[in-house]
Amino acid sequence: MKEGRIIPSYGRKRSHGLSETQKNNISDLYQLYGINLPTDTINPTELFHVKFDKIVLEIGFGNGEHLINRAISRSDLGFIGIDPFENGLANILGEIKNHNLKNIKIFNGDARFLLEKFKEHSLHRTYVLFPDPWRKRKHHKRRLLSTEFIFGLVKKTIFGGNIIIATDHEDYMINILENLKKIPNIGYCGDINLLSQKPCCLSETKYEQKALFQKKKCYYLRIYAL
Ligand SMILES: C[S@@+](CC[C@H](N)C(=O)[O-])C[C@H]1O[C@@H](n2cnc3c(N)ncnc32)[C@H](O)[C@@H]1O
Repeated sequence: MKEGRIIPSYGRKRSHGLSETQKNNISDLYQLYGINLPTDTINPTELFHVKFDKIVLEIGFGNGEHLINRAISRSDLGFIGIDPFENGLANILGEIKNHNLKNIKIFNGDARFLLEKFKEHSLHRTYVLFPDPWRKRKHHKRRLLSTEFIFGLVKKTIFGGNIIIATDHEDYMINILENLKKIPNIGYCGDINLLSQKPCCLSETKYEQKALFQKKKCYYLRIYAL
């Protein structure tokens, strides 16, 4: 997969200029906690110095609050976060260092590039929390959670593993449920009215807080790879 051949699913890579601390975080800490795109297929466990039996991925971690919370509370799991957003990258690298976390690695880029390098059935769980909804119809093609993308993600998931998706955008969730109908070997609840129960493992993200503040309904979907 080559950049330029895919439609970007993210808006900006930077929301404002980086402060000196943020720049230093990136230049000093990415070499410790960052992932360089592998040339060949890899088992994601190889990205860690410590051996982890289970690998958990978060795609589009934003400022990283959920990923950091999960990595702190589950030191027995290896966590990988992916996001092309540089302000969030600087923030999460600083947090990894402050908490001295050994179980987290970050890829600053498009998830589609790293995912295609992962061995099949190698991920225990993936979170995609409040992905950019691309509200306007003419922008729907930029939505990350296409049939092809979800199918690819399912193939990278271990049997019985799962993908957790959250959104406050009903139209996007309906679109995702339609896409799922075309994917074999998965289990999920297809009734949008039953998707308002938040999984207990999720801590609040910035976008979730924003949605709840605006009294928007949030939807949470769990897809099992069978
Ligand atoms: C609306 S924000 C949500 C951030 C965070 N999950 C939250 O709930 O606060 C969506 C995030 O997904 C990231 N993103 C969009 N497309 C992506 C892709 N192809 N790979 C990885 N991250 C992506 C964006 O850069 C952005 O940080």
